[in-house]
Amino acid sequence: MATMLLIHGPNLNLLGKRDAAHYGTATLADIEALVATEAKKAGLDVKAFQSNHEGALIDFIQKESASASGIIINPGALTHGSYALHDALVDTKLPAVEVHLSDVSSREEWRKVSVTAPACVGVISGKKEAGYIEAVQKLARQLKES
Ligand code: DQA
Repeated sequence: MATMLLIHGPNLNLLGKRDAAHYGTATLADIEALVATEAKKAGLDVKAFQSNHEGALIDFIQKESASASGIIINPGALTHGSYALHDALVDTKLPAVEVHLSDVSSREEWRKVSVTAPACVGVISGKKEAGYIEAVQKLARQLKES
């Protein structure tokens, strides 16, 4: 069974306690369970990881991408500034889908820029946890076509 990586960046360990208007009420564990269920329907296994540290995220991507087929990533605020994370995603040569719970296009100016998005095959934003279901389906379609 093909494996997809589900990666969460800084502060996303606090989902469920963060501003519900932006991020909803689902916890990270809820989202990981949701993704695992949807991935199973598509015949995919999930390896999930969260870190508040940019380097730890890059180490995980470097180590695990060799045995994975695709990536779903919510980089948190690293979205808006981490060229290192961008490069790590590019170097995997895997299809990646970027997900944001909140609608980053309607928030502060600095949130409207994603430096990681060019390394991804798509970005899903503003659909709270439902965005992850869409991301699994997009990735599954992408993998079928390739
Ligand atoms: C986020 C949006 C980011 O701007 C923010 O820093 C986050 C979460 C989202 O899921 O909406 O931590 O990635």
